[in-house]
Amino acid sequence: MTGIVRLSGREVLVRAEELADLLTDTVHGGASIGFLAPLDRAQALAWWQERAAAVDAGRLAVWAARAGDRVTGTVSLAFPDKPNSRHRAELVKLMVHRDARGQGLGRVLLTTAERAAAEAGITLLHLDTESGSPAESLYASAGWTRAGAIPDYAATPWGELRPTTLFYKRVGAPAG
Ligand SMILES: CC(C)(COP(=O)(O)OP(=O)(O)OC[C@H]1O[C@@H](n2cnc3c(N)ncnc32)[C@H](O)[C@@H]1OP(=O)(O)O)[C@@H](O)C(=O)NCCC(=O)NCCS
Repeated sequence: MTGIVRLSGREVLVRAEELADLLTDTVHGGASIGFLAPLDRAQALAWWQERAAAVDAGRLAVWAARAGDRVTGTVSLAFPDKPNSRHRAELVKLMVHRDARGQGLGRVLLTTAERAAAEAGITLLHLDTESGSPAESLYASAGWTRAGAIPDYAATPWGELRPTTLFYKRVGAPAG
């Protein structure tokens, strides 16, 4: 049974090892999510531990899906601190462990973050994702709108530059 919970900063620290396992699996599976392969375990762990302060400060919301004693999926929302941007958030680091994919977890994580954003008064979500990836199909099928594509935006874990597709989605009540 998989449950999805929103993590406090302390819980991010408690679950940092499990989150690092998921991040490492995702990068070594070829996803372009900000890291190069091979991803050092200590680097993955430190990256999650550094997120805890942003969670406690309200700049980041992190959800984790757990099954047994491990994290099988995660998604985050990053909130800008600019006074004119409080209505929007960036959806980041949606990941499902390779052996848990294709069972609907990615879509449930995405829906969880979208609903929480709307409940928090956010009216606009945005993200970027590697063009042609499974994630691009997920966002398109979940009602996100393609805003455009940028060539050579980021490298795959093996260093090959790939285009990214920018998406946005209006959630909750319209601004104004
Ligand atoms: C993208 C990702 C989170 C999807 O997780 P998942 O649990 O396998 O997704 P789901 O089972 O909920 O599938 C939802 C939709 O994603 C798309 N999708 C999933 N796997 C796919 C694949 N291999 N090829 C094409 N589309 C795929 C489909 O649209 C699917 O809908 P459908 O089942 O109705 O056809 C997962 O592949 C992943 O972690 N990828 C690596 C990390 C990444 O790229 N994250 C995005 C960063 S912006």
